[in-house]
Amino acid sequence: MASDLSFVHRFEPATRPGLAPLLLLHGTGGDENDLLPLGQMISPGAALLSVRGQVLEHGMPRFFRRLAEGVFDEADVIHRANDLADFVEAAREVYGFAAPLALGYSNGANIAAALLLLRPPTLRGGILLRAMVPLAQPPEADLSGRSLLLVSGQHDPIIPPANGERLAAMLTGAGADVTRRVLPVGHQLSQADISLAREWLKRAEITAAIRSA
Ligand code: MLT
Repeated sequence: MASDLSFVHRFEPATRPGLAPLLLLHGTGGDENDLLPLGQMISPGAALLSVRGQVLEHGMPRFFRRLAEGVFDEADVIHRANDLADFVEAAREVYGFAAPLALGYSNGANIAAALLLLRPPTLRGGILLRAMVPLAQPPEADLSGRSLLLVSGQHDPIIPPANGERLAAMLTGAGADVTRRVLPVGHQLSQADISLAREWLKRAEITAAIRSA
């Protein structure tokens, strides 16, 4: 395991106790600064670990290589997901926080899906905004106890809603508790995504508190 913190990242410690830490994963061309405001809006006071993808596509950071839009280099997906999982483990030791919930957008949501399928203990669940299937034939994963919110855009020109549906079925089949919503929007995030994520997180936290009571 890489013991150094090999990904460029920002960490904001929690200012309120008892909230799930968030692992923030940006879309193509983003960086570790992009999703901090979104994380703060969705879960004010939660610890935030925001990471920059290590692949460059024409200078734009991503979390794994693709051969064309929507066509992934799956060997690279596997390699990069393992690197990211090792980094999250190392960061948890250094900063001292519990297994995070992923908050990923687009390419960041896709690497979050790959983390779930390849290295399930890395994440306690996640909010995946505009995600698609990252691996055609993923290994069998046990995602029982993991709660996920998947939000697709009905008019998304990059990710057909049917692909989001397939991902939801794949994660449900692995035992995750998946909530899926399709908004009447495109690939860009909307205010409705933020409202849905906030409401879902509140419900997930209440359920977790009941479970651990
Ligand atoms: C991807 O490459 O992960 C998806 O096509 C979304 C994107 O980043 O454009």
